[in-house]
Amino acid sequence: MSGGKYDDCWLRYAENGTSKSYRERCSNVYASVEAPELGAVRDELRRGFRGLLGREPHFWQHPPRSADGFLAVGTPAEMEVVSDCVSSEAVESLDDEGFLIRTADWEGAEIVVVTASTDRGLVYGTFYLLRHMSLGRPLDSLDVVREPTNAERIVNHWDNPFRRSVERGYAGPSIFDFERLPDLRERYVDYARLLASVGINGIVVNNVNTQIPNRDGANEATNELGGWQLLETRYLEKLTGLAALFRRYGIRLYLSVNFGAPEKFGDLDTADPCDDRIEQWWAAKADEIHECIPDFGGFLVKADSEGQPGPYNYDADHVNGANVLARALEPHSGRVWWRAFVYDSHEDRAVQQYNTFEPLDGEFHENVTVQVKNGPIDFQPREPVSPVFGQMPETNLGLELQITGEYTGQHVHACYHVPMWKEVLEFDTDPEGRGRRVKNLFTEEGTGIAGVSGPGDDPNWTGHYLAQANLYGYGRLAWNPDLDDETITDEWVRQTFGDDPAVIETVTDIMHDSWPAVIDYTTGGLGLLHMMYNGEARLENHYDPSPEEWPGYHGATEDGIGKDRNSKGNGYTQQYPAALAAGYDDPETCPNELLLFFHHLPWEYELEDGRTVVQTLYDNCFAGAAEAERLRDEWNSLDGKIDDERFRHIAERFDEQVVQAERWRDTLVAFFYERSSVPDQRGRVPSA
Ligand code: GCU
Repeated sequence: MSGGKYDDCWLRYAENGTSKSYRERCSNVYASVEAPELGAVRDELRRGFRGLLGREPHFWQHPPRSADGFLAVGTPAEMEVVSDCVSSEAVESLDDEGFLIRTADWEGAEIVVVTASTDRGLVYGTFYLLRHMSLGRPLDSLDVVREPTNAERIVNHWDNPFRRSVERGYAGPSIFDFERLPDLRERYVDYARLLASVGINGIVVNNVNTQIPNRDGANEATNELGGWQLLETRYLEKLTGLAALFRRYGIRLYLSVNFGAPEKFGDLDTADPCDDRIEQWWAAKADEIHECIPDFGGFLVKADSEGQPGPYNYDADHVNGANVLARALEPHSGRVWWRAFVYDSHEDRAVQQYNTFEPLDGEFHENVTVQVKNGPIDFQPREPVSPVFGQMPETNLGLELQITGEYTGQHVHACYHVPMWKEVLEFDTDPEGRGRRVKNLFTEEGTGIAGVSGPGDDPNWTGHYLAQANLYGYGRLAWNPDLDDETITDEWVRQTFGDDPAVIETVTDIMHDSWPAVIDYTTGGLGLLHMMYNGEARLENHYDPSPEEWPGYHGATEDGIGKDRNSKGNGYTQQYPAALAAGYDDPETCPNELLLFFHHLPWEYELEDGRTVVQTLYDNCFAGAAEAERLRDEWNSLDGKIDDERFRHIAERFDEQVVQAERWRDTLVAFFYERSSVPDQRGRVPSA
């Protein structure tokens, strides 16, 4: 493997004030050697302790009887020390990925035991222990039991294998060098470590756009984007080693597939899911994949959306489409993640997913998960929660979040997504009914969480250094959606920047306030969306302001602004259960932050605080841009308190963010003024 120099992210394992006491207990490690996952465990302990203890631990093949203390990692079945300290019932009752960590006294030695019923559980337990120590927490009286809340915790790469580009990725070329597989890069191991450390257990390695739709001006020459060819035998063989590498870290490999693949490969003249030949083709393909990758996770499919082929091309529906793939994968315990991001450009996008999928509730196979974006539009800075959630009780649903910052400043701007995701996860999908919060919808087998991830080969992985926190936070929430954002932020900041209280406080504050600032200057804060440049160049758009471009989304006219997605308009509010529908349907009860998403209102419609809609839009745009400046100043106050390289990188990003935030502010307020002819009461908007 060949390596390069890149950041350790949150796995820095820096020595801290507790290191001395760690040395007493962890300088000797008795770890099981049986499975490949245990190799990953030992490697991580070696690496982690080298930093945290300031020296390499000594590994034993038996309990180190001469030591005063040691760390034991293994299953009770393999290690007597473990079964002496932890009851077998306690371990057996853990789920497959759960683990248990306990401090114990064993034959006079003070030991720490990490145990689980599976080797994957040991990987998670090891990373937990190392995080605990990185945070400087004591090892005395540990009694920790953890299990993931969600069974499926996946990252979706939108990597275009044969160009090494990443759709909506802002950190350089793809991490993966598919052409060179089966050669493996050291960086793959480090990526697997980062993912496993936060509990990710699945990775889709290629773009959902397995070919480029013609509407973007693409031609045949760009059709290799997305990598539909990965299903070919020669590439499957190449993926074998990559899958094995991830397997050591408990991560299963998945592929995005093109629904038209049976036709593309040239041996069939159709991909009709109701045709027996297609059934057989997918079954044979699934068998072949399974031969190469025995724990293959399954397929992710974007069908009948933005130019991708799907069952509609064959007069079939999404159930026919998803189920034919599901039947093929079933014998191999594989799963189909079928995306609900389906719309037809002639109608408001918001209404379409529910209309398309809800009538199909109960018809999808057990091993199909319908993967739904958090909002009904498309990863906007803020959207209401999709009405599909909570309303397809007979279907396995998956929540799709965007870790990368497509509409939130594309990793030039600081924008921490964890508070946004918490808002989504805590949302009650039916307050007067079953009262199920979004976070409680993905706990059953077959449901789960997927995050569109976007890291790249840049030394800092994510383009903006602070965006590493989004990957971190995504994993932590996918493992346990009950975690609050303060806990996650604090963990990330301390592991990434160390324990200087001034640094912790400042970085935490910046993270906390970054999302609201972006919402304010890119939307005006009342639920508008898609005010950004859409352009032709798919890989570069959605960054600059361009409110003229998509009037259908924000509905700005001379008489007012917003879109009637209510019972007066296209009826979207009625897709929600009654209590939510009623609340959204009336502008008096609709939450301010979503007001113009649901209602077209006169520019001078008065809000609760006495300000008008247009004045609030002006005020919020100014506040957002001012906030960007404040965040930059806060960051600059850290000069000399953290290493120069990270300091300067982030400072430069903030300089650019401030300029861009002002551009957004000026463009939006000019647009609002031009449409409304209502001057800013505070005289900040140049009036004709
Ligand atoms: C957005 C995004 C596209 C992506 C699509 C999807 O529209 O801009 O790049 O392909 O979402 O989620 O499929």
